[in-house]
Amino acid sequence: MKIIIVKDQVEGGKEAFKLVKETLDSGNLKTFGLATGSTPISLYEELVASDLDFTSVNSVNLDEYIGLSADNDQSYHYFMKEHLFDQKPFKHNNLPNGLAQNLAEECARYDEVIANNPIDIQILGIGENAHIGFNEPGASFEGTTGIVDLTESTIKANSRNFEKIEDVPTRAISMGIKSIMSSRQIILLAYGEKKAQAIYNTVKGPISEEVPASILQNHEDAILIIDEAAASLI
Ligand code: GLP
Repeated sequence: MKIIIVKDQVEGGKEAFKLVKETLDSGNLKTFGLATGSTPISLYEELVASDLDFTSVNSVNLDEYIGLSADNDQSYHYFMKEHLFDQKPFKHNNLPNGLAQNLAEECARYDEVIANNPIDIQILGIGENAHIGFNEPGASFEGTTGIVDLTESTIKANSRNFEKIEDVPTRAISMGIKSIMSSRQIILLAYGEKKAQAIYNTVKGPISEEVPASILQNHEDAILIIDEAAASLI
């Protein structure tokens, strides 16, 4: 793992932007794996402000809440439109459909999307319990797209974006860890003291399914862009 320590989230966005630009400029960004949450926002702001052209790039998002439609302002689909897609058109945007009638079929469809669009760069945030996408502690490292029951701590952490905690969906569809690991390059972003323990366990701890992000230690091109607070325990 390569670790880049930055001053703050704004600087982190600029560092990540440079990596994305380099790959795009060299013609090697065909599929861009994207993440939601507050963490990647500064990167998306850099992308929106730039003259980079993504019209020949497909995007693949990590996850979506079950039960929220794309036009629900709490859905990850809505988040992506608001922060990136409405300003930066892509060739095609892929996200799991949280309203699919048959969720097993939706997972199989999404695995097919990933198989047909090998991810060149995957952006990741990290949960306070080191989850990536919505792969919570205990998720198999061999997992592909699946239905996930969110942990209490994730529901609580994510409730800050909802009016009340009861509104937070309890399940999600998430790309699996095996699919994330098959990305050519992974850029994990983390800012703030709340992420310090997760970053410590990811970087210094044993590789364990109890710490989903620890598997990145085995990835050939994983880059962590973290601020001083998130790096404070390593
Ligand atoms: C959610 C998302 C993750 C994200 C995490 C952290 O659970 N599924 O992809 O990394 O939240 O969010 P934030 O960046 O807001 O701290």
